Amino acid sequence: MSLLHLRTIPDPVLRQKARRVTKIDDALQRLIDDMIDTMREANGVGLAANQVGVLQRVVVIEIPEEEEVRVLINPEIVRREGERVVDEGCLSIPGYRGELVRSLKVRARALDREGKPVRIKAEGLLAQALEHETDHINGTLYIDHLESADKLWKLQPQEAGARSEES
Ligand code: NI
Repeated sequence: MSLLHLRTIPDPVLRQKARRVTKIDDALQRLIDDMIDTMREANGVGLAANQVGVLQRVVVIEIPEEEEVRVLINPEIVRREGERVVDEGCLSIPGYRGELVRSLKVRARALDREGKPVRIKAEGLLAQALEHETDHINGTLYIDHLESADKLWKLQPQEAGARSEES
């Protein structure tokens, strides 16, 4: 396992749509393991393959209260319900946070790392991470959802390293 280089804006790979995974092989398993390591090293709650320069629809999510890391291949949000205002950051946009509207609840489907179909019903941080990561594989960033420029703010240097829940 190894750490991968985290891409940050304005890297164009963050703006590209990732391709569907059609083959679950050893190279993919290695990518998944390396993405998990990279997410943990960055104290993130999620990471999409675009963020390490790979245009494949692969996402990892690790919510602090949950025991296991979720590996989602070809994830899709199939239903969104309600709205809530959240404060959000992204490992690919270091030093900033923004305020935006996310869904209260989402339902998603994906394949797990063995290729088995999974369905997820989520709310709270998991729902937010699912929306954030599926956006990433479509080339969308949270800053695209801001209502106006004043909804984005720069973190003070002492806050920057201390903020968590970025993905
Ligand atoms: Ni992100």
